[in-house]
Formats: sequence, structure tokens, C-alpha cells
Amino acid sequence: MGLSDSQYKVLSDIVYSECGINLHEGKLELLKARVAKRLRITKINSLEEYINLIKQDTTEFINFIDAVSTNHTFFFRENHHCEFLLKSIDNSRHLKIWSAASSSGEEPYSIAIQLLEKGAKFEMFASDISNSMIKAAKTALYYKEKLRLVPRNMLIKYFQKGRNKWEGYVRVKKEVMNNITFGRHNLIVDSSPGIFNIIFCRNVMIYFDNETKQKVIGKLYKSLAEGGYLIIGAAEGLVGLKHNFKYIKPSIYIKGAS
Ligand SMILES: C[S@@+](CC[C@H](N)C(=O)[O-])C[C@H]1O[C@@H](n2cnc3c(N)ncnc32)[C@H](O)[C@@H]1O
Repeated sequence: MGLSDSQYKVLSDIVYSECGINLHEGKLELLKARVAKRLRITKINSLEEYINLIKQDTTEFINFIDAVSTNHTFFFRENHHCEFLLKSIDNSRHLKIWSAASSSGEEPYSIAIQLLEKGAKFEMFASDISNSMIKAAKTALYYKEKLRLVPRNMLIKYFQKGRNKWEGYVRVKKEVMNNITFGRHNLIVDSSPGIFNIIFCRNVMIYFDNETKQKVIGKLYKSLAEGGYLIIGAAEGLVGLKHNFKYIKPSIYIKGAS
């Protein structure tokens, strides 16, 4: 599929303004492949027509954003963050937690099962920009390869083994799902979904430029209660950004007194 410079600019500008992802030149092939897939699905032959469609049709606009975002994740990814929290939180408090780029659900479910195991009281909001990821998270069905880091006792307690055509898959049990509400939220343009004691915003800002990160960090700060924790991805950092968080340890920050 040919993509002219102006078409590339239109599409990459949409992606930047909507999801903060900077599709610089090196990402041309990725953009082409993802757009080609949408053209096949929508049975549209011309790119011009597709660009017009996403400008007018919200559903296809969201499908396009879904197609260009990167959703890779797995259970117990960077679990040292959760281990830190489990040691720091007080079981007598009811915690409000936000998993702010939850992809297909592995992150919020990993956090939830460890909090249940500890006997913590909590509710969680798990959100993503991608509708298809939210749908996958709500379905809560996973190929067992994604769970290789889950300790065996928790695997047995919180997951159901698939049988027959679902052999090789597991499903998260209802008692875990009951603590989590899933919804679409765009970190860049949407207003805060509430005030939380802990926010996980991991492995998403890595795709943003500094200007976008600055905007998102400001919004996350406002969404945290005093004394609340912000957890970002291990490959991410707040260096070069203006913020009022206190650094606790790599990728863990607190709002207010530590
Ligand atoms: C690599 S996954 C990270 C999943 C999980 N947090 C983890 O660390 O494994 C990045 C997720 O960020 C989502 N995303 C990208 N831009 C976003 C935005 N502007 N607002 C909310 N989510 C976004 C993507 O759809 C994707 O599911």
C-alpha cells in the first residue's frame, strides 16, 4: 500500500493528538501495516476514503486508534512494584486503585489477586484507550503462556482451567473480576476518572514525547490523593519533567509527605 507524505502526515497527526504516540519516520512500515489491516476489514480500497471515514465516524476512529496502539503485556510484569506496595499498604484502609493503561487486563488482574491474597480492601478502575483491549480484559480469558510468572498457589486459587476447545487457556475467576471496573479512558484528552490512592501508569508514557508526558503527569498528579503512589514502567522516568512528586525508588513516586 502506498502512503503519500501528506497522507502519512494526516494519519500520524491524528495519532499524535489523540494518543500522544509520535509515529516518526521509522514507524512508517508499522503505520502502513496497521492501516492496511483496517482497509481490509472495512472493505475500503482507497486511503483517501479511509482518512475521510475516520474523520467522520467515531467508531472507525476508535478502531484506527486501537490498531496503532501497542498492547503487549503479561501477568506479573515488573512485579517488584506490587511487592513494594504490598509491604507499604495498610490492610485496614479501603484503597482506590487506577490501572491507567491496562491493555488486555493482565496488569489489573495481577495487582488484584495479590491484594486479595494479602486481605486488602480495594476497588480498582482499569482503563485503556483501546476498546478492543477493554473487551479482552472483560473477557478475562488468557493463553497460559501469559501466566508463566504467576505463582502456582495463585494460579490454582484465582484462575479456572479451560477444557476442550479452551485447552491451554485460563479464565480469571469472578471473585477477582468483581473488584475491577473497566472503562475507556484516554490519558491525554479525558478528564480525571476520580481520586485514587495508587495509580499504575506503566509502559505507556514510553511512547509519548516530553510535552505529552508533561501533560499526562500533571493529570495523574491531580488524580492522586495526598500520600498516594504513582507507579510508572521500569523503562520510564520523570527526568526532565516538571512535577511535585517525591521520588521513593526507581519508577515509584509519592504525592506529598513520604
Ligand atoms: C504496552 S501496554 C502497557 C500495559 C500495562 N500497563 C503493562 O505495563 O504491561 C500500553 C497500553 O497503553 C494504551 N494506550 C496508548 N495510548 C494511550 C492513551 N493515550 N491513553 C490510555 N491508554 C493508552 C495502549 O492501548 C496499550 O494497551
